[in-house]
Amino acid sequence: MGARDTFEDQSLPSDAAREYTFTRSDFERVRKMIYARAGISLNDSKQNMVYSRLSRRLRTLGMDSFTMYLDRLSNDATFDAREAQDFVNALTTNLTAFFREPHHFPVLAEYLRAKGGGLRLWCSAASTGEEPYSIAMTMVEALGANTGARLLATDIDTNVLATAGRGVYRLDSARQSGEDRLKKYFLRGSGANDGMVRIKPELPKLIQFAPLNLLDGNWPAVKAFAPALDVIFCRNVMIYFDKPTQRQILDRFAQVLRPGGLLFIGHSENFTDHREHFALRGKTVYERI
Ligand SMILES: C[S@@+](CC[C@H](N)C(=O)[O-])C[C@H]1O[C@@H](n2cnc3c(N)ncnc32)[C@H](O)[C@@H]1O
Repeated sequence: MGARDTFEDQSLPSDAAREYTFTRSDFERVRKMIYARAGISLNDSKQNMVYSRLSRRLRTLGMDSFTMYLDRLSNDATFDAREAQDFVNALTTNLTAFFREPHHFPVLAEYLRAKGGGLRLWCSAASTGEEPYSIAMTMVEALGANTGARLLATDIDTNVLATAGRGVYRLDSARQSGEDRLKKYFLRGSGANDGMVRIKPELPKLIQFAPLNLLDGNWPAVKAFAPALDVIFCRNVMIYFDKPTQRQILDRFAQVLRPGGLLFIGHSENFTDHREHFALRGKTVYERI
């Protein structure tokens, strides 16, 4: 789980020092809205986080009350689709890293080598791109640069997807890929870009970025990408969903993942009660049966 989930920021303003009034009822409205739109369940400990992130939206919009802001989001007559997306973007938690949970990548490489050919992979909570680029590096290393394999990388948050598409990172975060990969897959910035790196074009060529809400009915981006998938990465996002939502999404993963395909999940997630569809094949790796 991300750092922002584990530790509450004690420096956040107390009720009295807050710039805007933020009542229990405002929090309840936010909680219902983000659950309905993104499936994200916020517990009571998230009140300061919600205040801090949404008060930035109020400031940007020049609004002076949460009630006014939430009315605008929920009133059908003036429904503002753009602000609805900004509301979701503000409330997602996007912590990620290159080669996070590194034990998954040798398992992926072995699977890719064994299957070869035009495989179709999906990274379903791609955040700012470190995870899909780590998968793409593994694809190149296992199958060669001219592999026919392709990766679909999606996220509900359009801001993080834009960052992923730019492929520009701080050097110290890219270093988590290891020194060899740093040389092989990144261009070093200089001058004003000193301390930054850019992903070399061979990796973006393998990846298609698209917005996708795991909660939405049909996953059109997945259907357009491939009739069936060989690999799904769904790491560190199900922790934000309740059990019924997790089950719904896992049932749909089972429909789009071909038998024998692999599902990679996050370190604190556990879907062993979905034995009808998935068998545990390693540490947080499941096979579609
Ligand atoms: C903590 S990050 C995990 C990123 C990456 N998978 C990893 O493990 O490093 C969770 C990501 O899930 C995305 N997310 C949250 N709700 C979502 C939903 N309903 N559909 C798709 N993505 C969602 C967030 O925007 C965020 O980028």
